[in-house]
Amino acid sequence: MIDQTYRLPSDAKLLTPVRVGAIEATNRIFMAPLTRSRAQSDGTPSDLAAEYYAQRACAGLIVSEATAICEQANGAYMFTPGIYTDRQQGVWAEIAEAVHARGGKMFVQLWHVGRMAHPEISGFETVAPSAIAADMVAHTPSGKQALPVPRALRVDEITSIVEQFRCAARRAVDAGMDGVEIHAANGYLLHEFLSDATNVRTDAYGGTPENRARLTAEVIEAVAEEIGPDRVGVRISPGGTAGDMRENDPVSTYEALLNRIAGLGIAYLHVLIDPSSQTFGAIRALWSGTVVLNTGRDRDTDFRELEGLAEWGAVSAVAVGRAYLANPDLIDRLLLGAGLNEPDESTFYASGPAGYIDYPALAGLEGSRTA
Ligand SMILES: Cc1cc2nc3c(=O)[nH]c(=O)nc-3n(C[C@H](O)[C@H](O)[C@H](O)COP(=O)(O)O)c2cc1C
Repeated sequence: MIDQTYRLPSDAKLLTPVRVGAIEATNRIFMAPLTRSRAQSDGTPSDLAAEYYAQRACAGLIVSEATAICEQANGAYMFTPGIYTDRQQGVWAEIAEAVHARGGKMFVQLWHVGRMAHPEISGFETVAPSAIAADMVAHTPSGKQALPVPRALRVDEITSIVEQFRCAARRAVDAGMDGVEIHAANGYLLHEFLSDATNVRTDAYGGTPENRARLTAEVIEAVAEEIGPDRVGVRISPGGTAGDMRENDPVSTYEALLNRIAGLGIAYLHVLIDPSSQTFGAIRALWSGTVVLNTGRDRDTDFRELEGLAEWGAVSAVAVGRAYLANPDLIDRLLLGAGLNEPDESTFYASGPAGYIDYPALAGLEGSRTA
C-alpha cells in the first residue's frame, strides 16, 4: 500500500516551509483528518489523544479527526469527539498545548454527519437536506443497522447549524488551536447539501448549484467572520462516492461554491480527489488560493508523485492519512529513505493505546524533534 522505497531529497519541495493563512507550516506534508473512535462517551477526546497528536507534530499541519459541532451533529460512529462543551474544549486545549510544545500546528476538523447518523448512536432523529437515506449500515451498540430515512431540515434548523459551526470554531481557537477545517466532504451534512442526488430541496438551499452551495458557503463565511479567514480551511471531495454519495455535475456545484468564497481569503482548500482526474483539473483552475491535495484512500501513497505535483506547482501542500497514522516520525523516515510501518486496519477504530500511540519511531530518532 505504501511506497516503501522512496527517499525524499533534502531539497524536496514537500520539505520546504509554506505559509497557510495565519500559520507558517514547516513542511508541505500535512496529516489528513483521521477518525480514531477513541473519544469518551460524552464526546470528550481520549486522554491518549494529546500524546497521539504530539507524536505526529512533525507534520506541517495536523488536521484533527472529525469533531462534532453539537450533540446532534454526532452519530455516524461511536466514540467520536465533539467541541461543544467546556469539558471537551479543555481536552482540546491540552492537545493544542502538546502539539505546540513539539513545534507542530493543528486545525480541528468540524463536522455534522447529517444522514450518516444512526439514532442509536446519536440519540437524535437523523436529519439531512432531503428525506433520502444512505444505503449503508451503521455500527450501533446493538450491532449493524441500516441507516434510516432522514428528516429534511427546516430552514430555522439550518440557520442554527451555521451558528453551531461558528461556536465550535470559536471554542477551537479559544482552546489554542491554530484554526479549523470545515468538513464538506465524504457524504456528511455539507456534502449532502452540495450534491444534486441527496439534496432535492425546492427552497433557497436546493436546486441550482448556487443554492446547493449556500449552506457550506454560509458556514465558511460565519466561521471566517468569527475566527478570521486565515484560520479556516475547507475540505471537499468533488465527485467522491464515500457515504453512498453521487454528484451528477460536480464541477458546476463547486464552481458556485468557490466563486462565492473566493474573496474571503481563507487559509486553504483541501481537495480529496484523484489528481489525474478531469474534475481535479477543473477545480484547480477555479481556485487561485492555497490547495492541499489528498489523493484518496484507494490509491497507494506515492510520495514521488506527490513531490512531482508540489514541484510543478499544482498543489501547495499534500495531506496523507494512513502514512501518518502508522508513522509518527514520517518526515524523518522519508528523508532517510527508511522503511515505513504498515498501518494496522484492525486498530483504526479500536479502543485503547494499541495501534494508536504505539507505532514505533525509528530507533535513535525518538524525541529528536522535541529539542
Ligand atoms: C481510519 C480513517 C479515518 C478517517 N477519518 C476521516 C475523518 O475524520 N475526516 C475526513 O475528512 N476524512 C477521514 N478519512 C479519510 C482520510 O482523511 C484520507 O482522505 C484517506 O485516508 C486517504 O488518504 P491516505 O491514502 O493518505 O490515507 C479517514 C480515513 C481513515 C483510513
